[in-house]
Amino acid sequence: MENSTQVTERIEQLRAQLNHHNYRYYVLDDPEISDAEYDTLMRELEQMEAEYPSLLTPDSPTQRVGAAPVEAFGVVEHPLPLLSLGNVFDREELGGWYTRIVKLLGEQPSNFVCEHKIDGLAVALTYVDGQLIIGATRGDGLRGENITQNLRTIRSIPLSVSKEAPPRFEVRGEVFLPRTGFAKLNRERAEEGLPLFANPRNAAAGSVRQLDPRITAKRPLDMYIYMLGYAEGRPTPPTHWEGMEYLKSLGFKVNPNSRLLNSIEEVEGYYQTWVNERESLSYEADGIVVKVDSLEWQERLGDVGREPRWAVAYKFPAIQGITRLKEIRISVGRTGTLNPYAVLEPVAVGGVTIKQAALHNEADIRRKDIRKGDMVVVQRAGEVIPQVVGPVVSKRTGEEKEFSLLEAIFDKEKERPACPECQAEVVKLEGEAMYYCSNAACPAQVKERIEHFTSRGAVDIRGIGENLSSILFEQGLVKDIADLYDLKKKKGQLLKLEGMREKSAGNLLKAIEESKDRPLSRLIFALGIRHVGGETAELLAKHFGSIDRLAEASREGLLTVPSIGPKIADSILAFFRQEENKRIIQRLKDAGVSPEEEEAGLEGLPLAGQEFVITGRLDTSSRSEAEARIKALGGTVKSDITRKTTYLVAGAEPGSKLARARALGIKQLTEEEFLKLLGEKA
Ligand code: IVH
Repeated sequence: MENSTQVTERIEQLRAQLNHHNYRYYVLDDPEISDAEYDTLMRELEQMEAEYPSLLTPDSPTQRVGAAPVEAFGVVEHPLPLLSLGNVFDREELGGWYTRIVKLLGEQPSNFVCEHKIDGLAVALTYVDGQLIIGATRGDGLRGENITQNLRTIRSIPLSVSKEAPPRFEVRGEVFLPRTGFAKLNRERAEEGLPLFANPRNAAAGSVRQLDPRITAKRPLDMYIYMLGYAEGRPTPPTHWEGMEYLKSLGFKVNPNSRLLNSIEEVEGYYQTWVNERESLSYEADGIVVKVDSLEWQERLGDVGREPRWAVAYKFPAIQGITRLKEIRISVGRTGTLNPYAVLEPVAVGGVTIKQAALHNEADIRRKDIRKGDMVVVQRAGEVIPQVVGPVVSKRTGEEKEFSLLEAIFDKEKERPACPECQAEVVKLEGEAMYYCSNAACPAQVKERIEHFTSRGAVDIRGIGENLSSILFEQGLVKDIADLYDLKKKKGQLLKLEGMREKSAGNLLKAIEESKDRPLSRLIFALGIRHVGGETAELLAKHFGSIDRLAEASREGLLTVPSIGPKIADSILAFFRQEENKRIIQRLKDAGVSPEEEEAGLEGLPLAGQEFVITGRLDTSSRSEAEARIKALGGTVKSDITRKTTYLVAGAEPGSKLARARALGIKQLTEEEFLKLLGEKA
């Protein structure tokens, strides 16, 4: 593009389109285009901005995650304090709140807005001249932390709004992790041996308070706006409800489950509905918030201390139960961690019977003073394993016994603490809370490693769950992860397993073959290196580009990767130093599992970032030649169509992939078009 007005226009057009599609996807949950089309627009904008850096603006959709980590967060003084809420727990208490406000107002307020009280953290966003300039936590209500860089990574937060908006205004709302994101994060943390987040609120707070915004960007955070803080320079609506409608029209995400109601009876009805339905929500809510709708009445009611009189939180009953902790047992995790867990007298909590619950580590058990024989409070949060919150001290009889991990695993014959599964010695690493089984060949560890390797976030071999990986291990068919790729030579033995038919064995072997194509980051994660979870694996894959380069990395080299500290670096070094691991990796490579990171070093190549799937017979070359040519030009070849697929190359007699590509709106190429793209045909 020669002409600079043309360039500016195209950039503006791309930004407007991307903002629009971003809004459709993240705010309305109703996308109009495929991910691939979105990526194409994004790529074009990125390229143009790289070519014309002077035209780059901070509110460009390319600039959500740009900033380098900060040393510490700055402090933001809130011009108007962020209040908290008083609580009520039942109908009577709600009635008490209502009676007080009727008395103060001298009349009955007719309109209430009811909203969900989401379990996240309060955040204030300030916009000046249509641009997001500050995003801050609540802090103590008067002063919060400046977490703007991190909040910019949340796609449902607009970086800029219409010029029609007030020249300066602040909105407030709740940043949260949806249940699935929370469960996934905790699963990963458990695998890395990190302490779990007790609830979505802590997880959301931990995520936005990362010094490196790139980590925040990976967490699936979302935000619902729940009030207008203040607005200057332009009038805003006189009621809360209309205010929310107004903010929606400016592009903010407002919870669609909020309702405008006319009486306190209706408020009670709304509450009862959600007490029963709360589990169906995609986020965790711990109650509802009832707000007097008229802002004038809000003003008249005012605040007491840090709480407004015009609003109240009506809390849901906790999903908790009380039961006896019969015993504390120890399980052995994939990296050898010795994990205590509670065996409980079965108790129904929110419709589910709980028999076991997590107890993170010995220090945690001591801190909460949980003893064997205690009556304990157990709680379910999100989709994670139930947790023991703490003991009910008033119910103690004096018979309860304090827990000591070393005593629990003391082996009388060996006269020392021993792994409960393989009796090997246990070790405790400096500065860590966990004890480990020192035997890498411990059957419990190996079983867990195989299961982890095949799991969804790892190389994803469908059909091998906890059960089958256990059976394969116990029958001696799979003794380590590399053995999985030899299973095809052992089909006879496979078919002898109980319940295994020709068809299921075939499906299993096919799934194992397909798992060879997973991206490098998934393979790194799948190896189960201590302290290397999904996020770290992605950073490593991007940085090193191949397993070999990662295996050869020096300590210094590892430490140059953002957010990799000495603990992770040492763990990676130790992993690749072990002969057994070296052998396994070599065998994986021999079996054809050695992905390269797609983007490393490929930028600038014509097919960089483009993903191909080939189906049917090609006339001018074999499948493997075609694959090699794509790879040589920086593209990648996958066996399955996904939303990320850029092109389906359809040869003669294409298979079912064609229909799938059509359904997903993926572009198809004939062999001729494909050759043109490779530049081999004019
Ligand atoms: S209104 C002046 N609305 O609950 C009113 N708060 O203790 C203050 N929260 O930290 C807040 N959902 O982060 C309001 N729909 C909602 C909410 C909500 C969650 C949180 C908020 C605050 C706490 C109040």
